[in-house]
Amino acid sequence: MIQFDNVTKTFGARTAVNKVSFTIDKPQMIGVIGRSGAGKSTLLRMINRLTPATSGQILFNNMNILALKGAQMRRWQRDCAMVFQQFNLVPRLDVVTNVMLGRLNGHGAFKSLFNVFSADDVTTALNALDRLGIAQEASKRAEELSGGQQQRVAIARALMQDPQMILADEPIASLDPMNAKIVMDSLREIHERDNKVVLCNLHTLDTARAYCDRVIGMRDGDIVFDGVPEALTTDVARDIYGADESFNEAATSTAIETDTSRTTHSAGTVTPAVAVAV
Ligand SMILES: Nc1ncnc2c1ncn2[C@@H]1O[C@H](COP(=O)(O)OP(=O)(O)OP(=O)(O)O)[C@@H](O)[C@H]1O
Ligand SMILES: [Mg+2]
Repeated sequence: MIQFDNVTKTFGARTAVNKVSFTIDKPQMIGVIGRSGAGKSTLLRMINRLTPATSGQILFNNMNILALKGAQMRRWQRDCAMVFQQFNLVPRLDVVTNVMLGRLNGHGAFKSLFNVFSADDVTTALNALDRLGIAQEASKRAEELSGGQQQRVAIARALMQDPQMILADEPIASLDPMNAKIVMDSLREIHERDNKVVLCNLHTLDTARAYCDRVIGMRDGDIVFDGVPEALTTDVARDIYGADESFNEAATSTAIETDTSRTTHSAGTVTPAVAVAV
């Protein structure tokens, strides 16, 4: 499906992502972990062309992503919907319109400019909101919603794009544990029910363990781990985070209470959302 070949991104003298190669060949839910500055956001943003890669190749079903231009590029950006830590909604617009904005790439400039949506668009948006459990908020302004609700609106907007994959950059980093769980459950449900790739940057190990089929660990622009969560031992985690013997996994916990039917690690109740500052 998606293939990275020696992909590099430099910012001046700084190498954010260093000759990274990996393949996603089935619809997995993948967590990307690593300390701040490891290159997680850059990796995701190169996929949907928000950040131009410096060298290397990214292929999606043999299509050269980095060479796309104009309408083809916009089409691709619709195909890999992005969910951000800060939701990126339009605060004063109502929720259903925010969701319909996910369709804009699919409309011509005229329709986009004059904000014309069809009855079909409204129905699709309401269905997406319903799926995220927030259809009752459809007519409120986005700014009236809680952070967790806003992130669900952002996910509904992503669904509205009918994407081939979802890229989520720290989708729960601004949320309390309860809302973090709701949002992660929603992403997992989209992965399972729609059979889509969900590639998700996460600050915390327990979330990656609980929700992902595969974990990619980044350190200083390199992929230093790529495997199943079960292989993510404390030693491996220590290596990913570049930590010493005093490394404490509790410091990477979000305290999400997870469904034990697929959980490999139960977080317990630890300090919320602490980034690994080692
Ligand atoms: N627009 C930019 N201009 C210059 N340097 C940048 C830019 N974006 C990222 N970098 C640098 O690239 C490196 C990787 O950054 P990136 O944002 O990908 O890390 P990250 O793993 O997402 O970190 P965090 O967990 O803090 O979000 C860092 O050294 C960062 O300072
Ligand atoms: Mg980041």
